[in-house]
Amino acid sequence: MHGACTLTQPARGYAPRRDTSPPITVFHTEEGELFAIDGTFTHRNSSLAEGWVANREDECPLHASKSSLRTGEADQPPAKRPVRVHEVTVVDGLITVAESDAAPNLPPGISLVG
Ligand code: FES
Repeated sequence: MHGACTLTQPARGYAPRRDTSPPITVFHTEEGELFAIDGTFTHRNSSLAEGWVANREDECPLHASKSSLRTGEADQPPAKRPVRVHEVTVVDGLITVAESDAAPNLPPGISLVG
């Protein structure tokens, strides 16, 4: 998918994972900020939607690397490569996510569908 999708703004603290290829997770933080990044950690096949979010970072539930919601960069190994960051705009409560044109950094064994 290279394009845009729209969805209703999720509640604060909620991070729905879009079933796109690759999946994209939209974060509405407790502080009220919105971010959209790829939904799979780059180290192994683990969902960012199931991570712990604090201080604009998502901590992987498997190996504890944190991915920045702003830049996609990993803070420490074992994750080394960044996840992609996507542009988010909100109009009248509808979120539009414009997917990055960059190639996704998928974990080993995972490939794009379609
Ligand atoms: S799967 Fe997330 S750091 Fe290993």
